[in-house]
Amino acid sequence: MRSLSFGGVVLLIGIIACTSLGVAFAEDEEMCVPMGIITLEPPDTVEAKRAAVEFQHSRHFVLACNNCHHTWDGSEPVTGCMTSGCHDLDALPRKEGSKAIDKDQAFRYYKNAYHGQCIGCHKTMKQEIQQMAKTLAGIDGKLPVTGPTGCIGCHPKE
Ligand code: HEC
Ligand code: HEC
Ligand code: HEC
Repeated sequence: MRSLSFGGVVLLIGIIACTSLGVAFAEDEEMCVPMGIITLEPPDTVEAKRAAVEFQHSRHFVLACNNCHHTWDGSEPVTGCMTSGCHDLDALPRKEGSKAIDKDQAFRYYKNAYHGQCIGCHKTMKQEIQQMAKTLAGIDGKLPVTGPTGCIGCHPKE
């Protein structure tokens, strides 16, 4: 099992808003928050089966940052998802000396992490919205929106 360097992500759109959120860090550290689209790609060691995901980062700012940056404590800049020790594996991990999948470490497989987080939230919200639609509508009669759960919604046809 190889460990990956943080290189699977290409920041496409160059609008980088530094300190736009007014986040102040210790020792005058600043954090650049990528606005617009971040292209999410597999690590270099993986041959992609699907088109890269054009992730609309700022569309998600209606949500709390730590829905996704779940280890961020607010005192250091956010680190990437494939940082070493996080979701840094390019395949499902196996138990030592066996072919069995190591379920406890499966979260480190980057694809599992992304699918779990991205599809997981969209699915949960979809169910909640459907439930809401059955009972009463949202505050001003409009139902909230969520993101895609089908493959093409995130991996467009090439
Ligand atoms: C819906 C999920 C989601 C939400 C909510 C979210 N982000 Fe992100 N963010 C991402 C993803 C995915 C990336 C790109 C992942 C990577 O670089 O490995 C990213 C990248 C970043 C980066 C660049 C990290 C780097 O590697 O340099 C910063 C900084 C950042 N986000 C800050 C924020 C802040 C601040 C908020 C809240 C206002 C926020 N994000 C909300 C998913 C999210
Ligand atoms: C905590 C919940 C949550 C997570 C996690 C999340 N999303 Fe979303 N996503 C949303 C919501 C809410 C919207 C609708 C936002 C809007 O349009 O105002 C959305 C919208 C989208 C859309 C549709 C944007 C459009 O053009 O209409 C895409 C594509 C998307 N998300 C991809 C992703 C990807 C990729 C990830 C993982 C990196 C992710 N989402 C993680 C809640 C989430
Ligand atoms: C909400 C967004 C979202 C949905 C829906 C989604 N994916 Fe993904 N998927 C991602 C992200 C983000 C990655 C990690 C970045 C990458 O590898 O492109 C990924 C990675 C992958 C990968 C590994 C990389 C590659 O291209 O080989 C495969 C395969 C994949 N997805 C297949 C699927 C299939 C099949 C479906 C439908 C059942 C699906 N995805 C639905 C967001 C999504």
